[in-house]
Amino acid sequence: MKAAVIHEFGAEDVLKYEEVARPEPRNGEVVIKVAACGINRYDLYLRMGAVVTDLAFPHVLGADIAGTISAVGDDAMDWQVGDQVIAAPGYPINPSDWNIRPENQAPSFEVTGTHTWGGNAEYVRMPARFIYKDDTGLPAQEVAAMPLVLMTAVHAVETLGEVRSGMKILVQAGASGSGNACIQVSRALGAKVATTVGSAEKVETAIQAGANRVINYNERNFADEILEWTAGRGVDVVIDNVGASVLEENLRALCLGGIFVNFGLVGGYKASLNIRDLFFRQHQLRGSFMGSLDEFRRGLALLRDGKVRAMVDKTFPLSEAAQAHRYIESRAVRGKVVLIP
Ligand SMILES: NC(=O)c1ccc[n+]([C@@H]2O[C@H](COP(=O)([O-])OP(=O)(O)OC[C@H]3O[C@@H](n4cnc5c(N)ncnc54)[C@H](OP(=O)(O)O)[C@@H]3O)[C@@H](O)[C@H]2O)c1
Repeated sequence: MKAAVIHEFGAEDVLKYEEVARPEPRNGEVVIKVAACGINRYDLYLRMGAVVTDLAFPHVLGADIAGTISAVGDDAMDWQVGDQVIAAPGYPINPSDWNIRPENQAPSFEVTGTHTWGGNAEYVRMPARFIYKDDTGLPAQEVAAMPLVLMTAVHAVETLGEVRSGMKILVQAGASGSGNACIQVSRALGAKVATTVGSAEKVETAIQAGANRVINYNERNFADEILEWTAGRGVDVVIDNVGASVLEENLRALCLGGIFVNFGLVGGYKASLNIRDLFFRQHQLRGSFMGSLDEFRRGLALLRDGKVRAMVDKTFPLSEAAQAHRYIESRAVRGKVVLIP
């Protein structure tokens, strides 16, 4: 089969389109014929060697997999060849962790395609228990745009952010894949959402996701605008995937007793924190990584019911995986980028 393979960590050009052996299902596994595989910024970090350093090369990336079952192993008979499926974007890779709940707190939980081969290939092998029926009725490229960001958004917004109807919240980077999903999940919960973007071209993307207020941070200080929007009170919750570069202003935009959830670091990961403000203003700081499989199922239900939808900016053939990574790196993306084998 063909796959986008890396033999070393490095820049986009380490992605090579090559012939590799097609996987066979082992006990309890299925093989999926990949129809589409979404890219996340995580894949770029993994490719660069910024997530783990112990990958066995060659390696195949890719967490967001939509396709059909092409082979079923022993003890995976709940599935049949031809079933249309979605793979969990993260799961505990060590079977001894399979009873731990929530799954994203299991020691061996990781993003799909980290130490196991992912979906940047014509076929991928997965444990049958981490496969879900695709009953969305959506094209594969739209389905493949959503798993990782949906799992992340339900966990960060609903569970950790405790976002509820009537709240006003701030979601950073509203045109990013993850920010976009967080806006949509927040709106589905009935909250009002302000978001940030870095260019005029991205304003429309954030509005399409349902943002009530879009702030171009190159034109206006976002915390000032949030305080204006909330009559000086600040938002109830900040959902942040940018990190260090905006931490101080994020907390300035947060109300007394508000919840701050971080799950990303595009703007850096080392910041200083004003402890005096932290306790006087009674802020709750929460770190978020992926989500449980129950949260993932809730996210898929939102997609199936049309309460969130995929925003696919571009698709690339799998043979152009390097160009697709370069496009994401350029920061021009509005929504998601998807590879088609
Ligand atoms: N912990 C988790 O579970 C989890 C899950 C998903 C994502 N993440 C993290 O969330 C972050 C975003 O991921 P994503 O896949 O949504 O990314 P993405 O789609 O590539 O979007 C990233 C966006 O961030 C904005 N940004 C702000 N400052 C930036 C900077 N210094 N450099 C680059 N971009 C910057 C840019 O939008 P503007 O130009 O509009 O500013 C950019 O388009 C990453 O750190 C990722 O690892 C974490």
